Amino acid sequence: MTTTRETMNDDADVVRPPIDSVSGRPDRAPDGAPDDVTEVLPAVGALAPPLGLTAAPMSAPLVPGELPTAMSDDVTECLPHTSVATASRSEPLSVLEARGISAWFGSHKVLEEVSLTMQAGKVTALIGPSGCGKSTFLRILNRMHELVPSASLAGEVLLDGDDIYDRDKKLQDARRHIGMVFQKPNPFPAMSIYDNVVSGLKLTGVRASRSDKDGLVERSLTAAGLWKEVKDRLKQPGGGLSGGQQQRLCIARSLAVRPKVLLMDEPCSALDPTSTRVIEETMTELQKEVTIVIVTHNMQQAQRVSQHTAFFLASLGTPGAIVEHGDTDAMFSEPQDERTWDYVNGRFG
Ligand SMILES: Nc1ncnc2c1ncn2[C@@H]1O[C@H](COP(=O)(O)OP(=O)(O)OP(=O)(O)O)[C@@H](O)[C@H]1O
Ligand SMILES: [Mg+2]
Repeated sequence: MTTTRETMNDDADVVRPPIDSVSGRPDRAPDGAPDDVTEVLPAVGALAPPLGLTAAPMSAPLVPGELPTAMSDDVTECLPHTSVATASRSEPLSVLEARGISAWFGSHKVLEEVSLTMQAGKVTALIGPSGCGKSTFLRILNRMHELVPSASLAGEVLLDGDDIYDRDKKLQDARRHIGMVFQKPNPFPAMSIYDNVVSGLKLTGVRASRSDKDGLVERSLTAAGLWKEVKDRLKQPGGGLSGGQQQRLCIARSLAVRPKVLLMDEPCSALDPTSTRVIEETMTELQKEVTIVIVTHNMQQAQRVSQHTAFFLASLGTPGAIVEHGDTDAMFSEPQDERTWDYVNGRFG
């Protein structure tokens, strides 16, 4: 990875993260956990993309198809950073702010000066045609973008005012505070439902005693709207659940580390209408506890679940940018830009 300030954009305010020029990876490792989850999970871009929050603690590298079947019982052995038992959501909800984000893959610029505030306790929907950079933007919001060797970026991402790309900030903390749920549900299929839920703790440095874990699993599954359906089969494999249940299991897995922000990249696009409705209801409940950002191609879904909407567009040959953003109702009923009107009314995209 190259640094944008030096090679691409002299005017960039901030260019992060510091990159080891030899390895092409961030030049500092987070304490106690691999900073590159591609070392322990299938490659980026695989059907089940990895993420710190959703990665399993593994001692040996994994390749696609070689998924773990069981977790270490003691997730406290690794990283004594945060105690689940003491983590309550009594603190104020978090605001995530992107400032002047530009992004490249190699020399291909895919995002241009994107600025957006994702308000505390609200659902922000990102909409726009395929290829306009929504997923890239989402991955920048929790430092996944830097896992792609050719990727670079400019700009700042502030979580409650602190830049997650600041030299003093740990990659692992960004992933723990800002969780991700992907389009295709990606639980560890052979791992039990219970172990799937706790699997994110170790890699993200969250401490949980054995006695904490039972309560954590119940709370996370309840918040994800899955507890009642699985409480009698927690030791059965996650792969035995339906697609919609697997997606809620992945939400529970992300919630287990008590993120401040939950990023969801088309979380319902592979699901039936009933499962979609359950997840949308779950989101509405969750936003009381966590700030949510969702990418969706479903205009009805954006209107149902979000309070704020940003419309991304990449005109032919140009990088993606936000055309306009604002209150969801206004964006759909009286957008300021004609292109937004055309898009939300299905005239293109
Ligand atoms: N790993 C990668 N390497 C090179 N180019 C990439 C990579 N990932 C995305 N791109 C390019 O970046 C641009 C934005 O892609 P991105 O996936 O962010 O779009 P999107 O808005 O999420 O699209 P969709 O709605 O189809 O998911 C596209 O031109 C895409 O080809
Ligand atoms: Mg996408």
